Amino acid sequence: MTPNAKGEAAVAPRRRLLAVSGSLRAGSFSTAILKALATASASRADYDFADIGALPHFNQDLYVSPLPESVRIFRDLVTSADGLVISSSEFNHGVPGVLKNALDWASRPHNSSPLKAKPVLIITSSPAFTGGVRAQYQIRETVTSALARPVATPEIVVGSVGTKMSEGEFEDDATMQFALAGLEAMYAEIDRNRQPH
Ligand SMILES: Cc1cc2nc3c(=O)[nH]c(=O)nc-3n(C[C@H](O)[C@H](O)[C@H](O)COP(=O)(O)O)c2cc1C
Repeated sequence: MTPNAKGEAAVAPRRRLLAVSGSLRAGSFSTAILKALATASASRADYDFADIGALPHFNQDLYVSPLPESVRIFRDLVTSADGLVISSSEFNHGVPGVLKNALDWASRPHNSSPLKAKPVLIITSSPAFTGGVRAQYQIRETVTSALARPVATPEIVVGSVGTKMSEGEFEDDATMQFALAGLEAMYAEIDRNRQPH
């Protein structure tokens, strides 16, 4: 910890992060990665876990006041988060529909949406060696379209994810170190956003 001008130890700032899994599956590898990352970074960040399965299909007719309760809750979580951590598989070479649906709900109104200027760390995984890399780029495109900021860090792509699981938990030290480095890049961006401009 770095001492301040008075020689007192400065308290490291905590960040509030919103974990969004692209899978609703009970035994999801994507969700297991998020839980492992939240545990590994517990000394630096507090996590909320989004329930995107509760969201209705996006329908612009529902995007009126009052919003459906699940939509209001999700959008409030995005707004109050310092950043998002998205972990997803890919479905048919693309973004799983439930995740795209959630991002669409958080993307309106375009110029002042909950996602605007929000740092987003993107992780994809797959039982295949390709690690969901095609979805990684589609998620990046979608959040960029919503004026969010994909964290500038090497792509976190987890191949052969099934071999990195132990009793339902994600366990792979090399992946975790790589993802923690991505989180550090996000913390730096969050802290830059907090500076008075
Ligand atoms: C409808 C469907 C489409 C899939 N398409 C792909 C794909 O394009 N690429 C891939 O690597 N895996 C694909 N998979 C396999 C998923 O990566 C795998 O089921 C993964 O475990 C799902 O993520 P989860 O563990 O977080 O639920 C597909 C699975 C399903 C059910």
